[in-house]
Amino acid sequence: MTPVLSIEALSAGYGGRMILQDVSLQVHPGEIMTIIGHNGAGKSTLLRAIFNLVPARTGRVLLAQRDVWGLPSDRLLMAGIAYIPQHRSVFPRLTIEENLQMGGYLVRDRTVLAERIDRVLDLFPILKARAGQFAGMMSGGEQRMLEIARTLLQDPKLIMLDEPSIGLAPKMVDAVFDNVRLLREQGKAILMVEQNVKKALSISDRGGVMELGTLRIQDRASRLIDDERVARLYLGKR
Ligand SMILES: Nc1ncnc2c1ncn2[C@@H]1O[C@H](COP(=O)(O)OP(=O)(O)O)[C@@H](O)[C@H]1O
Ligand SMILES: [Mg+2]
Repeated sequence: MTPVLSIEALSAGYGGRMILQDVSLQVHPGEIMTIIGHNGAGKSTLLRAIFNLVPARTGRVLLAQRDVWGLPSDRLLMAGIAYIPQHRSVFPRLTIEENLQMGGYLVRDRTVLAERIDRVLDLFPILKARAGQFAGMMSGGEQRMLEIARTLLQDPKLIMLDEPSIGLAPKMVDAVFDNVRLLREQGKAILMVEQNVKKALSISDRGGVMELGTLRIQDRASRLIDDERVARLYLGKR
């Protein structure tokens, strides 16, 4: 199967200081790949480098075999890469529906956009019930769901999520991960970064361990959960 995302020897950093070193990975359609690792390991830098948001980069990024290396972020979005950053990115003083309309701003055809918004609202009943409310009035978890729903309006091939569960109550963590699974069911390729290691790996197909800017291990997620070293360092077991 052709990978949706293929990264070859990606290195990246800020102001001459390289953080990411020689990272290669692939993500396939309908697959969740999760990157774990300690704070400061370079996980966010990886996603930002793929999305061309890091000042210094070398390597290659292919989207469905198309070389997208030189493209700026808005063109990457148009090409099919969605990116949900670690900090919240909804517009708090717009309604849920208005947020969705903003999220679909690259969809030129208004009829297509209206159809997609309807379909997305059907997928996310929580959002549908509250479509007219200000996004800023929703809980953190609900705002995350809106961010996830919003990415679908571009009909992306790849969705990158940076710590979607950060700061959420356990019940909301489960709800957000259920939504990530929903994205996989839509055939999307998902590249996720998570600190909530056990839960994230349990919904993932594959995982990678990032240490000091390099991807040390890549394996099936089920094997990573059982890996003695991963358990000791990242699952708090001894
Ligand atoms: N905008 C930036 N400018 C300079 N250094 C940065 C910037 N963002 C992150 N870093 C540094 O890059 C390293 C990796 O950070 P990051 O990718 O955010 O790690 P993680 O997401 O794994 O916690 C850290 O040492 C951090 O201080
Ligand atoms: Mg981070």
